[in-house]
Amino acid sequence: MTSPFIGVILAAGQGLRMKSSLPKVLHPVCGLPMVEWVVRAMHEAGAKRIIVVVGNGADKVRTALADYDLEFVEQSERLGTGHAVMMAAPLIQDWEGQVVVSAGDTPLLEGRTIYDLVERLTEEGSAAALTTGILDDPSGYGRIVRNKVTGEFEEIVEHKNCTPEQLLIKEWNPALYSFNSKLLLEALPQLSRDNKQGEYLLTDVLGILRKSGYWIAVETTRNNDQFLGVNDRWQLAEASSLKRIQILRDWCEIGATILDPGTTFIGADVTLEPDCVILPNTVIDGKTSIGTGSAIGPNSWIKDSVIGQNCRIFMSHLDQAVMEDDCRCGPFSNLRPGAHLLPEAKIGNFVEIKNSTLGSEVSVSHLTYIGDSQVGARTNIGAGTITCNYDGFSKHRTLIGADSFIGSNSTLVAPLKIGDEVMIAAGSVVTKDVESGDLAVGRGRQENKPEWYRRWKNQKVTADR
Ligand code: UD1
Ligand code: CA
Repeated sequence: MTSPFIGVILAAGQGLRMKSSLPKVLHPVCGLPMVEWVVRAMHEAGAKRIIVVVGNGADKVRTALADYDLEFVEQSERLGTGHAVMMAAPLIQDWEGQVVVSAGDTPLLEGRTIYDLVERLTEEGSAAALTTGILDDPSGYGRIVRNKVTGEFEEIVEHKNCTPEQLLIKEWNPALYSFNSKLLLEALPQLSRDNKQGEYLLTDVLGILRKSGYWIAVETTRNNDQFLGVNDRWQLAEASSLKRIQILRDWCEIGATILDPGTTFIGADVTLEPDCVILPNTVIDGKTSIGTGSAIGPNSWIKDSVIGQNCRIFMSHLDQAVMEDDCRCGPFSNLRPGAHLLPEAKIGNFVEIKNSTLGSEVSVSHLTYIGDSQVGARTNIGAGTITCNYDGFSKHRTLIGADSFIGSNSTLVAPLKIGDEVMIAAGSVVTKDVESGDLAVGRGRQENKPEWYRRWKNQKVTADR
């Protein structure tokens, strides 16, 4: 049974070093705004409530997190991390439990780590628990000052405020803390802005509690990467790269094969089933799911799509498409929103499908556009077929039955209804509905003129002499 806690996420800062019009915490890491990763970690750790402190770009941050059950407080003046927590104080006044405070710019933070810190505070019955790390070069970070004799935690000193001796300390503050809520509320009013930053520093709360005689539990991590704080674009790139590898590793653990982790991108909300194979240069993003036994890539891009079992997607592009079991597409297929392939459908090179359902075992092998259509089972669509779904004003539907054969280079002018077991002669322009069982020929009749070419050539040759 976990100890109950409220999570407070600090996300009001400006993030000037990002040089961006987008609030820093909304910059995406593997498809999710970085603050959303922190929200998820808090959830995973079992937070009873989550309070997000917003300020810079507050409305944008609220909108980005609209899907979650969160409480927001606004910090209209950015007077430091301690000040940000003061803004949340009224919401934790009546809370009997712990308050975990984390920054919104640490997208690699894991729920398990928050959970462990909360458990640590409970076990030790301390006033607070904080994570620390050891780094050869902790430049820029707050340093952990310990008692020289006992080694006990004394205070955190920000890099800017360190003495030359304190700058040599390798133990750094990753900025993840859990507090006994009553003691946090007692210490916050004691913060002062009397420092080089002129800010209320949350880090000072730990020193204040220690000086008041309270015990502070310290959890030293060996995984510094998890606390990478994103302050600039390069750190954003580093965080994205670490997160990308972490996601790939998690999928390998459930039994997916990833041939080239260096060129494979799998987004946060993708799901893979065991025994699928992802080939190099492949991006799978959005809410995509891939069934067992399917192979994707190389050179494929898939977003918000549902792929069944044993499908083969080869060098193709899919956006909001559905492929049921045993389908295949590619190379160079373009499945656009609303493309829905029933089992064993086959799409070949330079074929574009939009807002259309293709029945089972339908084959569309080459150079074709199918839009706003429905195609019955086992129908074969010949090379170069075009559904003319747009008349310049509105879109119209093409309905094609089962077991039909659409000859190559046919132009199907919608709205159009073609029945079952129909044959459309190659090269037809079809503007009228075709009944089941019929043949439709919509093209000029061929005429052969015997010996015409030789006569024509002889005339030319004689004229030139
Ligand atoms: C902070 C810690 C530092 C630690 C480092 C780890 C303090 C004073 N320092 O420094 O000890 O080593 O994190 O990454 O806490 N924020 C607000 N309102 C404010 C100021 C900041 O909401 O008025 C938010 C920011 O949006 C950010 C978080 O608090 O998400 C941390 O602020 P930031 O300015 O990045 O602190 P650091 O300088 O990184
Ligand atoms: Ca930071």
